[in-house]
Amino acid sequence: MNGTIIETKNLTKIYNGKIKAVSDLNLEVKEGEIYGLAGPNGAGKTTTINMLITRISPTGGEAIVGGYDIVKNSLDVRRLIGVVPQDFTADEDLTGRENMMMVSQFYDVPRQKAQENSNTLFKLVDLEEAADRLVRTYSGGMRKRLELILGLVHEPRILFLDEPTLGLDVQTRTQMWNYVKEIQTRLNVTIILTSHYLEEIDELADRVSIIDHGKVLITGSPEELKGSLNGDIVTVTLTDQKSAELMKTMQGIVEVNEVGPNTLRIKVASADESLPKIINFISQHSLSITKLTVQKPTLDEVFLEYTGKTIREAEGGDEARKLAMNMRRARQ
Ligand SMILES: Nc1ncnc2c1ncn2[C@@H]1O[C@H](COP(=O)(O)OP(=O)(O)OP(=O)(O)O)[C@@H](O)[C@H]1O
Ligand SMILES: [Mg+2]
Repeated sequence: MNGTIIETKNLTKIYNGKIKAVSDLNLEVKEGEIYGLAGPNGAGKTTTINMLITRISPTGGEAIVGGYDIVKNSLDVRRLIGVVPQDFTADEDLTGRENMMMVSQFYDVPRQKAQENSNTLFKLVDLEEAADRLVRTYSGGMRKRLELILGLVHEPRILFLDEPTLGLDVQTRTQMWNYVKEIQTRLNVTIILTSHYLEEIDELADRVSIIDHGKVLITGSPEELKGSLNGDIVTVTLTDQKSAELMKTMQGIVEVNEVGPNTLRIKVASADESLPKIINFISQHSLSITKLTVQKPTLDEVFLEYTGKTIREAEGGDEARKLAMNMRRARQ
């Protein structure tokens, strides 16, 4: 246990000789963990997954999955893994159960075993009642849950989830998180998960690599990454401008910015230690406050720290680039 189950060395994919989608990627995934690949649109997440599941071949570097080389032993790799792709794959004109049986035939799972596994899996994601309905009658959340278990009917050791909650509303997304956690603990599989929702990665991943433009920016547990920023944010709203000005003069704070009327965003090394000092300062100078909140850094702030932009700006940037490219093409 806790050995390395996936390892990549300088894994690289260049599409059509020019688009460098993944560049010298080095990853080490430990058995049993949920490993997150986080990054904006076009970062190279799906390309990385597609190489690891042997759907496309790398143009450089290598990767070992479950002890097998993805290029030399691709059939062995395929037997060990389950895949839930970014796009829907289930047949809408079949029932959920018929889809499960079809996938299990594809993997040569004996019929009785397939039936048993299907029952367990439908129960796991609360789809028992819908199992015999046509998939076209499913809601978006039900489809995603079906896709999740379609990747598990042959009892894989490793499950790849590419954007498991894309397009789902917040409530359904939270439900999916619980199912993914259940799968990790009850079925004892290693899970590789991609997402451009950093809060999803924070919630689910034991460790994460943040990638942008095909390169790993940083790897660690969400706690380590957030901790590495060395700063919590205390936001305090005072009753008047004079108090706010005085508050700014407090010693021992990393950075202070005025972010609204009489409202200061104070960055401190550790809120646990600084909060008492801030409260003391307020009472010593007889300042009065109307609001005080403490915010620990999120993975969004980690992304900002390492790329100089927010993940949404990065996505906007890519869209803007695509648009510019299309416009150039249209002119040619
Ligand atoms: N088949 C392909 N041919 C050419 N370029 C491709 C192909 N697939 C992906 N790309 C390009 O490779 C880069 C990485 O794409 P990829 O789909 O791996 O990103 P992603 O991180 O999964 O993004 P998203 O969050 O949108 O799913 C992008 O610039 C994309 O346009
Ligand atoms: Mg993708």
